[in-house]
Amino acid sequence: MASPASEMEFRLAQRRILLIVGGGIAAYKCLELVRLLKKHGVAVRPVLTRAGAEFVTPLSLAALSEDKVYQDLFSLTDEQEMGHIELSRSADLVVVAPATADLIGKAASGLANDLASTILMATDKPVLVAPAMNVRMWLHPATARNVAQLQADGVSFVGPDEGEMACGEFGPGRMAEPAAFLKAILERLGEAQVIEAQTGPARPRGPGPLTGKRALVTAGPTFEPADPVRGLTNRSSGKQGYAVAAGLAELGCEVILVSGPTALPTPEGVTRVDVETALQMEAACREALPVNAAVCVAAVADWRPEVIANHKIKKTGQGGVMRLVENPDILEGLAKAKENRPRLVIGFAAETDDVEANARAKLKKKGCDLIVANDVSSGVFGEEDNTVVLVGRGGVEQWETVSKAEIGRRLAAKIAEALA
Ligand code: C5P
Repeated sequence: MASPASEMEFRLAQRRILLIVGGGIAAYKCLELVRLLKKHGVAVRPVLTRAGAEFVTPLSLAALSEDKVYQDLFSLTDEQEMGHIELSRSADLVVVAPATADLIGKAASGLANDLASTILMATDKPVLVAPAMNVRMWLHPATARNVAQLQADGVSFVGPDEGEMACGEFGPGRMAEPAAFLKAILERLGEAQVIEAQTGPARPRGPGPLTGKRALVTAGPTFEPADPVRGLTNRSSGKQGYAVAAGLAELGCEVILVSGPTALPTPEGVTRVDVETALQMEAACREALPVNAAVCVAAVADWRPEVIANHKIKKTGQGGVMRLVENPDILEGLAKAKENRPRLVIGFAAETDDVEANARAKLKKKGCDLIVANDVSSGVFGEEDNTVVLVGRGGVEQWETVSKAEIGRRLAAKIAEALA
């Protein structure tokens, strides 16, 4: 009898994706997606739009997919090989990535004037769309209308993620990362168990040492707008904060993760509240109370522009002055709260020198129970590992360099001990 693993491989080898690559900077991610799909044995037949071909070459797509790349609605050669109607039905799933505002708009209004839009009209197969566009375009009411229409028509979506965009703005609009994208495709094909087989089943969120407890975690940077396209921010990937949230959830804790703009997926079992500015983060934290523990990992911008211009500020050729006002210290606010002060308030501190002394001063000034300090002079941002020293009222604990995920787990265990 065939093993479940080989049965799964056999099923995947029968699966076919028709991948429509649209015109956007995120098109490069499709190359990795094709590689991942092929690695899982799934056949990929690419369709490249004219705009898509400005970003990736037909040759790269053909080489990775090991199939012909279809580009033209009116190609005699293509039509002789396979008519466009037949092409639209030649796969189990049609995937559009990156799905531009234009492609989404066309599909929502039933236009069909090129190969990609014709396939979307003619197909009788499920469609999965991965939007990628500038944040303002994604937030535009027209796009929202079109997305709602497609959803009503049975089209499913993956992403977009939030984060820094190629155009320099922050917000939702980034195309889903290839690994998350692969997962969405396998789910849509009814093969979600493939991912589980690789990563192990999701850890049970059953009772743990933090069951019945509630924690607040802040993570990521904040973004303080100066005008519709510019703003102030801090460097922070959010990885450490997300790892703390994940570590707490694994121990059964109810976790509210208040996150600035990041490109990270929400850890399992965690409730995420997305914010942009420090003021929004402060309000979301206040709303999350009461909690047993608060862990402030976010890199909150210390200042915000006093005035946010309605229009893009123009160059004058003479430089300029921007007035800044100080943001509230969220950690300090929580630690010194008269009402609903969490039993445990933990801060993080990124230092470039005198790590321990600075952490001790911060502990005192902010009134928190513990400071987790790290030396950022040698580049921690966006990395997987971190070296931290824990400075509490009782003493100092230096941890060896371990992954941010491990720091999250160890800190969660410490919190469980303190709240027991
Ligand atoms: O003072 P500093 O920014 O170095 O302190 C870092 C700690 O304070 C972190 O835990 C950070 O999340 C928190 N913080 C905050 N609100 C601010 C500034 C920092 O919660 N406005």
